[in-house]
Amino acid sequence: MEKSIKPLTDPSKPKVYIETYGCQMNVNDSEVILSILQDAGYVLTGDIDEASLILANTCSIRDNAEQRIWGRIEQFRLQKRRRAGVIIGIVGCMAERLKEKLLDSHVVDLVAGPDSYRTLPDLISKITPDTPQINVLLSHEETYADISPVRMDKNGVSAFISIMRGCNNVCSYCVVPYTRGSERSRNPETIVREAEELYANGYREVCLLGQNVDSYYWQDPDSADRNVNFAALLEMVAKVSPDLRVRFSTSHPKDISDEVIYTMAMYDNICKHIHLPVQSGSNAMLEKMRRKYTREWYLERVAKIRSVIPDCGLTTDVIAGFCGETEQDHRDTLSLMEEVCFDGAFMFQYSERPGTLAARKYTDDIPTEIKTSRLNEIIALQNRMSLESNEREIGKRHTVLIEGVSKRDPGQLFGRASNNKVCVFPSCGHKTGEYVTVEVTSCTSATLIAKTV
Ligand code: 5AD
Ligand code: SF4
Repeated sequence: MEKSIKPLTDPSKPKVYIETYGCQMNVNDSEVILSILQDAGYVLTGDIDEASLILANTCSIRDNAEQRIWGRIEQFRLQKRRRAGVIIGIVGCMAERLKEKLLDSHVVDLVAGPDSYRTLPDLISKITPDTPQINVLLSHEETYADISPVRMDKNGVSAFISIMRGCNNVCSYCVVPYTRGSERSRNPETIVREAEELYANGYREVCLLGQNVDSYYWQDPDSADRNVNFAALLEMVAKVSPDLRVRFSTSHPKDISDEVIYTMAMYDNICKHIHLPVQSGSNAMLEKMRRKYTREWYLERVAKIRSVIPDCGLTTDVIAGFCGETEQDHRDTLSLMEEVCFDGAFMFQYSERPGTLAARKYTDDIPTEIKTSRLNEIIALQNRMSLESNEREIGKRHTVLIEGVSKRDPGQLFGRASNNKVCVFPSCGHKTGEYVTVEVTSCTSATLIAKTV
């Protein structure tokens, strides 16, 4: 009797290929999009050449992020020439910002902003070669709370959970409030349910995502007693299981409360790491950036964190060369970085974004060479501090959640310590998804080298 071979994917189903740019929120949004498209009959493919629908989930945060996507659109043009009928969709922040302008390329068939993903199947069904479809409506309610994201990560250990969408801050340099709309918090019960499901499916870490998690606030429609702030939400998720680690991002220096810091300290499974973007160490720049805190306030919050959680990992974002930044303002950033001694940082040159307050009110007057040299100085300082911070770990023990096999050496595993530092160590029979105690033996500025104990 001949054996029938079952195809891995159903050839009758249309295939979607999804590329994701930008932040973790976008990674999670792509998982929401996949869930919606799967319900509409699509299957995911990793091979762009066999996809009938190609989606790019895009970022607008800096001009170079957008330039990269324009380059990709030119490559998609070749796909269209080779394979008639293939649909090209631009979704996410750049779709929201540029709207119809994306259609001028005559490559794009579909433009969908971050709040319109439920309408994707309907939009796709209406596309013809002459009628592209666009939906860039922003919503005050949409949180995709009822949609179970289809996880595209491969490790099966850590997953993102969006707890809110949008942003109500008006940082003058930032395009996000325009691309992602106003802030709305998701029903905490649906967040806890998602964490429970992930845990039941073998996941051991969740990262709660929001543009400003500290302003998470759920107003219960029936009783104000049941309102939930971020500290309360953290506690609810931490209680899902002591074996489920909880991380979160991004905190805002003006909003991070003592209650959040104490809640972190109370639960072993809430990871001891805070990403606290400072942007600048100069009060004049912070004021112009409309960050609504001062250098002194920031340093006080760091002191509070360290007094309650002495070994808390602390990372940040820094912008070099914002409008009118003087040499002294730049020195203030360097001195703040040294004073705090961050464990890591994402560092950027200021990039003017059309429509933002800074673009309307201030001149982007720092020449590129100066922006670059200031940024290089910031990066060099951070590299030195990251190395020093890692060197201080030598001899210490950490509980690491194993996330996978090291790319460089298949005999080594990697995972993160509670403080978010990546550890690499010999596998010694351990497996992905397990917790293991390691002792740090050496390091680079990016990685702790360890052995299991
Ligand atoms: N130019 C440069 N960097 C920016 N960021 C946000 N907007 C801009 C901009 N216009 C940085 C900030 C933020 C991070 C996500 O990106 O540091 O925290
Ligand atoms: Fe994320 Fe901001 Fe980029 Fe949008 S613009 S994808 S919110 S980083």
